[in-house]
Amino acid sequence: MTTRDTNRFTLIETEVQFALDNFASDVSQGLLAMPKTLPCRHFYNQRGSELFETICQLPEYYLTRTETEIITAHATEIASLFDEPVSLIELGSGSAIKTQLIIEALLAHQPNLLFAPIDISQSALEESALELLATYKNLEVLGVAAPYEVGLAHLQHKISGPRLALWLGSSVGNFQPEEAIPFLREVANSLSGEADRLLIGMDLHKDRQVLERAYDDAQGVTAAFNLNLLDRINRELGGNFDMSGFAHRALYDEDRGRIEMHLLSLSAQTVNIDNLQLDIAFVAGEHTHTENSHKYRIENIPGLLEAAGFELEKQFTDQLQRFSLNLARPLR
Ligand code: AVJ
Repeated sequence: MTTRDTNRFTLIETEVQFALDNFASDVSQGLLAMPKTLPCRHFYNQRGSELFETICQLPEYYLTRTETEIITAHATEIASLFDEPVSLIELGSGSAIKTQLIIEALLAHQPNLLFAPIDISQSALEESALELLATYKNLEVLGVAAPYEVGLAHLQHKISGPRLALWLGSSVGNFQPEEAIPFLREVANSLSGEADRLLIGMDLHKDRQVLERAYDDAQGVTAAFNLNLLDRINRELGGNFDMSGFAHRALYDEDRGRIEMHLLSLSAQTVNIDNLQLDIAFVAGEHTHTENSHKYRIENIPGLLEAAGFELEKQFTDQLQRFSLNLARPLR
């Protein structure tokens, strides 16, 4: 572990960070599997992160807009629930406007704030920290470049006093329910103080058409985001994917309660990936599964959180109940 310190910014890097980002082995495992898969966490290289930022502004992608609307309406109320000054932890780099709204609401109640974002990407942490520090003079940033679990364990000893942990954007939806619960249980365990809370954004079920458009927009940005995985394989692993030979698909599986993204092979083709010494055959119409985005029913959220060791304390939604923001208290 290394620590770098400047005036109001400390960056902690952990070794685990590197071991976990294994693009090459994930690609070979995923493309040799039946059915083929590629894990969604590899979407976020430089280009993928830029495309995701664009997605967040699309008219069809209601998630970001709605969550921002809910936070705008309730940030002051949320901040006023804490009797003492809190520290703010975020799962993710805190680059979004949503985080700033929470920071501002907290700074209206306390003289200064420690913000501790956890992100696998060191550059994302550095960039957002610089911006936040320039905007908020009473802010101190303790960035942790690590997988969430590692970062949270780390922060256990580094932060004294009550903590508010943010997990926004319905990112929990990328986990299968059977993975989300143990993960959230770890989050609950790391929030060991009496006043500690989790604020988690969770997207809600709605009409198939609305959901499928949110993941297959008219401008084709989500398609480019999905296809970018193949471009990454070409650039980083010596692949020869012909991007025009594959198409983006977004399908709502109502029984499984999720949107799935796939890459569809438009013909029978063989792709070689030099660095992996692999030739991968695709049949015409074959699907490679790249992402799940689970959606939740409002009436199931208390039970889901309870199974993970949380009590739902307050829930905020927009008028149309498109999205939910949930304040949860760890049970003990
Ligand atoms: C960042 C995981 C919440 O699942 O809605 C956006 C990613 N994928 N469009 C989501 C995503 C396609 C997003 N999360």
